[in-house]
Amino acid sequence: MQTELEGTEEQVDEREALLEDARARIEDAGDADAVKAVERDFVGKKGSVSALMAKIPSLPPEERRDFGQGVNELKRAIQDAAQAKLDALAKARLAQDRSASDFDPTLPPPAQARGSLHPITQVTRELEDLFESMGYEVLDGPEVELDFYNFEALNIPSDHPARDSQDTFFCDDAGHLVMRTHTSPVQIRAMERLEPPFRVVVPGKCFRQETTDATHDHTFHQMEGLVVGKDISVAHLIGAMKTLLEGIFERELDVRMRPGFFPFVEPGFELDARCPFCRDGCSVCKQTTWIELLPCGLVHPNVLRAGGLDPDEWSGFAFGLGLSRLVMLREQIDDIRHMLSGHLRFLEQF
Ligand code: PHE
Repeated sequence: MQTELEGTEEQVDEREALLEDARARIEDAGDADAVKAVERDFVGKKGSVSALMAKIPSLPPEERRDFGQGVNELKRAIQDAAQAKLDALAKARLAQDRSASDFDPTLPPPAQARGSLHPITQVTRELEDLFESMGYEVLDGPEVELDFYNFEALNIPSDHPARDSQDTFFCDDAGHLVMRTHTSPVQIRAMERLEPPFRVVVPGKCFRQETTDATHDHTFHQMEGLVVGKDISVAHLIGAMKTLLEGIFERELDVRMRPGFFPFVEPGFELDARCPFCRDGCSVCKQTTWIELLPCGLVHPNVLRAGGLDPDEWSGFAFGLGLSRLVMLREQIDDIRHMLSGHLRFLEQF
């Protein structure tokens, strides 16, 4: 690199010598600190370039301008050389770090292991969409529930034998607090909160203290449905159940309806679907070839009253879709206990 230096020949020689010296020392510097030290020696306050600057007042006036310009150029040339060396050092250092750690910026990033939604979550979301498109609102309710909502208000008084069919986890000695055994308590909570007419669905976990087998677990999922309006009949109920099942299975399903007893509906029904696992009976269908899927019925007048509604004015239907069973049917899962097992080999299939 050659820099045009101005001034008398002698002065130019002096500056060229300085510049050459500076460049050589910068070139030899092994690290950034050494480069900065060399730069300081030349252009620092007490450096040789500054010493040249100090000479200006003693020069004849006509030489001062050229001399000053020349010294400034010298200063800039030394600073440029120092900066170039610093850049080169940083680059070399980075290259060294990368090769030492096998770092290759051209490789694609490592693949991230991605999770997937639990099949129950998938079906819940699908059903929420389906019901919302039919004007239903999605509600939530507590999993630890008062006896009043779980039983009493649903027309199941404390001495009623129907309590025996719902083996209950009690949360306190007095028996006022229970793990909800079904999503039906949210029927009452909905009546208390909403102005009829209304339609709601309530997906959620339920708990029963029972011996587990292929179709029973202590924790399972239901989706409650409740429609309250004027003059609701069994025809409305059947129409809604048909739409619901066709929406879920996207095909015609072999179903049957038979009377079923639940204290909070009158009349009450059991809607069963043909077992997809067998032709003549298996452990999933308990050798019946049918799977109980959708208990339902017209809301009992006592339940409307408990929810603060006048049964002479309002009527409704309710259903309790077995979400866990539905997922089993749809995904051909032959044991409900896989569902909450947390086993990756099970979950990775969805
Ligand atoms: N809650 C009932 C159960 O879990 C199911 C049901 C809901 C029945 C709504 C009728 C109407 O057994």
